[in-house]
Amino acid sequence: MTVHYVDEAGQIPEGQHRMYEIDGKSIGVYNVKGEYYAILNYCPHQGAQLCKGPVCGTTLLSPVYEYEYGKQGEIVRCPWHGWEFDIRTGKSLVEGKSRLRRYAVIHENGKIGIEV
Ligand code: FES
Repeated sequence: MTVHYVDEAGQIPEGQHRMYEIDGKSIGVYNVKGEYYAILNYCPHQGAQLCKGPVCGTTLLSPVYEYEYGKQGEIVRCPWHGWEFDIRTGKSLVEGKSRLRRYAVIHENGKIGIEV
């Protein structure tokens, strides 16, 4: 594993993400409430460029006929078929076994690095 320093931390404001190309991989780095997460720009369902999808929230588990919205800013929704993934864990909210390829993010000395 090699750490690739890609940007200054301030270049990714909270709630935003930026894209980087590293070793032929397209990787999105997301700032979720001050923490950085890196995911491969590839949806495990059918291969869409996942990072083109919106960052949003989702409906939480709740009793029948009650709808509770939460996790605002923690979910990315695939632009093709709408599968939702938790940016922090990489887990699919649609199909339990699907998971995003994630990378460790190094945040030191004001710089953002991705371990690839
Ligand atoms: S390709 Fe992402 S939900 Fe289908």
